[in-house]
Amino acid sequence: MNIYAQRRAQLARSLGPGGIAIIPTAPEQQRNRDSDFLFRADSYFYYLSGFTEPNAWLVVTAEGPSTLFCAPKDLEREIWDGFRLGPDAAPATLALDAAFSVADLDTQLPRLLENRSTVWFPFATHKGLETRVDGWLNKVRSRVRYGALCPDSQRDLCSLLDEMRLFKDATEQATMRRAAQISAEAHIRAMQLSARMLRNGEEVREYHLDAELLHAFRRQGSQYPAYGSIVAAGANACVLHYRADAAPVRSGELVLIDAGCELDGYASDITRTFPANGKFSGPQRTLYALVLASQEAAVAATRPGARFTDPHDATVKVLAQGMLDVGLLDKNKVGGVDDVIANRDYFAFYMHRTGHWLGMDVHDCGSYVEPSEVGSVSQRSDPLSGETITNRPSRILQPGMVLTIEPGLYVRPAPGVPEAFHNIGIRIEDDAIVTASGCELISRGVPVDPDEIEALMR
Ligand code: GLY
Ligand code: MN
Ligand code: MN
Repeated sequence: MNIYAQRRAQLARSLGPGGIAIIPTAPEQQRNRDSDFLFRADSYFYYLSGFTEPNAWLVVTAEGPSTLFCAPKDLEREIWDGFRLGPDAAPATLALDAAFSVADLDTQLPRLLENRSTVWFPFATHKGLETRVDGWLNKVRSRVRYGALCPDSQRDLCSLLDEMRLFKDATEQATMRRAAQISAEAHIRAMQLSARMLRNGEEVREYHLDAELLHAFRRQGSQYPAYGSIVAAGANACVLHYRADAAPVRSGELVLIDAGCELDGYASDITRTFPANGKFSGPQRTLYALVLASQEAAVAATRPGARFTDPHDATVKVLAQGMLDVGLLDKNKVGGVDDVIANRDYFAFYMHRTGHWLGMDVHDCGSYVEPSEVGSVSQRSDPLSGETITNRPSRILQPGMVLTIEPGLYVRPAPGVPEAFHNIGIRIEDDAIVTASGCELISRGVPVDPDEIEALMR
């Protein structure tokens, strides 16, 4: 059975008797006059259909049958915009039960909704979708005096699909391994280009390295970067959402690259930090070794049965101790490692989480709370803001989940911070599939060991 048909069948079983699900693909978006953003299918829609044309809708019913609405064949439009599959060919090609022209959506949907009990659609993700569903339900209601039944409940389809998408099947894992491998090769090429250009006395700018990444992604068949690439030279690495720009890449500074390709709908997400000229300085190596040690602790904590927050807690423990050891934090002021963690003093240099789910979306869907323990609520007071935070037990990791492991250190100049570390920003980010016994790092096609990085840059 086709993988998309399998997923639709699994979804159909979750809809409950009389359930029906409506999933539109993404809208086309204008960039500026006469020019659109490159189209990318909606992740939920693509997950269930494998169909990448714009202007399409999928309807899945609890009893199994699935209907596609897609752009009709139109030879004149196809001369301008390209091939359309069309509703006649769609059922056989996509293993669907029926297909109509998208022009028939408003006449067919009331018919499909009639006599169903629950209508499922993704809440708050598609502008105007609720209004369209309202319109179709109103049409069904106008027929109740002839004996038609109108759905009496609406539910958020994201809750079902997010849970399915959280566990990556073998097909998804294979695509993600390949995406991570392409990205790893791209990182190596960018590192080597930086060292080579500086050795040749050429001026290097962040966009040179960005161009190298893009080249490496596309030449291996990736459709586009999974997110805006961060190529941050020197102090720019301390700006968490910096984008590849035109700043000079200088010998003696570090470069932080956070970039990953998207392949066939799946993201990779890799960060490496390397010396622009291929040789770490003493202080750079000291902090790099600390981030790497914290990542090793997080990797060891990424295994089935552990909580999603365990790798983060393991990272923080190592980083907090390291900040005391290297003098980023003064123990006479902040106390020991337990105080640094309890008071969140480490936040001055490490202010983000250690990971997130990874999949079709770079920050992928899936609950971070363990579903079986959702009712177990506790409260704590945030040490920095004083805000009351409601805790629920963190998700228990299981085989097939994919997450990133991405500790960092970002040292902005400040009184009391050793000058040798000023403006150093380091992050090391890998992509991990949880396995039966631990995790598989699928992004290690590019090394993290500082000696290996120096060797490949020679
Ligand atoms: N590149 C986005 C992230 O690391 O989460
Ligand atoms: Mn990430
Ligand atoms: Mn990243």
